Amino acid sequence: ANGYYQEPYRPQFHFSPEANWMNDPNGMVYYEGEYHLFYQYHPEGNTWGPMHWGHAISEDLVHWEHLPIALYPDQHGTIFSGSAVADLNNTSGLGTEDNPPLIAIFTYHDAEAAKDGAIDFQTQGIAYSLDKGRTWEKYDKNPVLKNPGIKDFRDPKVMWYEDADGNGKWIMSLAVKDKISFYSSGNLIDWEYESDFQPLWAAYGGVWECPDLFKVKSNEGEDKWVLFVSINPGGPNGGSATQYFVGDFDGKDFTTTEEEVKWLDYGADNYAGVTWSNVPKEDGRVLFIGWMSNWDYANVVPTEVWRSAKTIPRSLELFEIGNKSYLASKPIEELQKLQASTQKLKGDEIVLEDELLEIVLTIDEPNFEFQLSNDAGESIVLKREGDKIHFDRSNSGKTAFEAAFKKLHSAPDLGIALKDLRVFVDKASIEFFFNDGELVLTEIIFPTQPYSLLKTEGFSDTKQIHVLKSIW
Ligand code: FRU
Repeated sequence: ANGYYQEPYRPQFHFSPEANWMNDPNGMVYYEGEYHLFYQYHPEGNTWGPMHWGHAISEDLVHWEHLPIALYPDQHGTIFSGSAVADLNNTSGLGTEDNPPLIAIFTYHDAEAAKDGAIDFQTQGIAYSLDKGRTWEKYDKNPVLKNPGIKDFRDPKVMWYEDADGNGKWIMSLAVKDKISFYSSGNLIDWEYESDFQPLWAAYGGVWECPDLFKVKSNEGEDKWVLFVSINPGGPNGGSATQYFVGDFDGKDFTTTEEEVKWLDYGADNYAGVTWSNVPKEDGRVLFIGWMSNWDYANVVPTEVWRSAKTIPRSLELFEIGNKSYLASKPIEELQKLQASTQKLKGDEIVLEDELLEIVLTIDEPNFEFQLSNDAGESIVLKREGDKIHFDRSNSGKTAFEAAFKKLHSAPDLGIALKDLRVFVDKASIEFFFNDGELVLTEIIFPTQPYSLLKTEGFSDTKQIHVLKSIW
């Protein structure tokens, strides 16, 4: 990087805003060669505040260009999380057939009304763009979905659904306190209630947020439906996390026969993530990005200029364990562009000369241990003991900003044979992918100096280390 983005802890191959506070990814849509990433943004400060949609675009999901703020608060409220679609058939009538609109569907949060004691202060609004997302116009009859009298009523994720006969409609998944409600529409403006999803056995440790409903192919080539629900608090390692359900959707109801709570990521720092819409059919991937933080400490992590980053982009695929389906999160292939050089090194103690790394290891023994440390005596440890993986960042560097940050994290091994481990190390994060994403831990860290020693046990002797380039 050319002297740009050199602050301590500035992510070098993860997306972060130039300045100020960011949380959830929003409005992720592919259109005319560009992946759009909008995000919950507070342009006036480095902690959460009145929400806007920040904006960036990328042609490869790796390199990002910052664009001006896309959505500002208005008389209906500030702009909470939501999604965007390419309305290719101009169903909304807000564009033309020759120039179909991009439509953003978001939650209005009316903080003033909330202060005055109202409970119906979250509604859904839309905005449209006719210039490839560069400028946005709010729909003049917002809100398009009024609040029925429920305090938490937010985070619309919209997708185009087609039945077997090719009849299509828009489906909105909405987080409503501790359930997901589905609505449908022919034009993105008039919405009709369809059903609720709220199984007894799901995780209810906190409020339900940021749903996402999408189709994935199983290994047998069969279509299955996945529903994401982010919850905060109540994650498996405390605070925020994303649970998911694999089942079926018939245009009205989402159903599942698998009564098991599943987590997308067992690290503490992958929240509110959703998938891109309108990804070209030839590509066929389900592309995902998450917010790499946790509400337990997001506002107080030790950065000043900006706060927080996104995960690396991942492609989601189903895999089976017994007769159940799970989601693997694979680092996208485009990330190979980051590789500046590759070394194959032998031994269980390797001195690291670079900071931005992808480390690829083959697991040799049931119990293994992976440690990174620096000269300041700081370290992180990932290890397996019995049927559990443990991650310890209690001595990782700066940790004093919030007690919850020091907590030990653990993950079940899911009963699968763990074969390999890929680790992405950036300035303030570490992401572990077992078996190409079948088990994932995403964790943020704040070492006071770079980790310079890798110590391992239980992996095969040769270690592959890719030195990565900054994207800035
Ligand atoms: C999730 C969330 C959403 C909400 C947004 C507000 O992190 O709480 O439910 O729309 O953040 O910034």
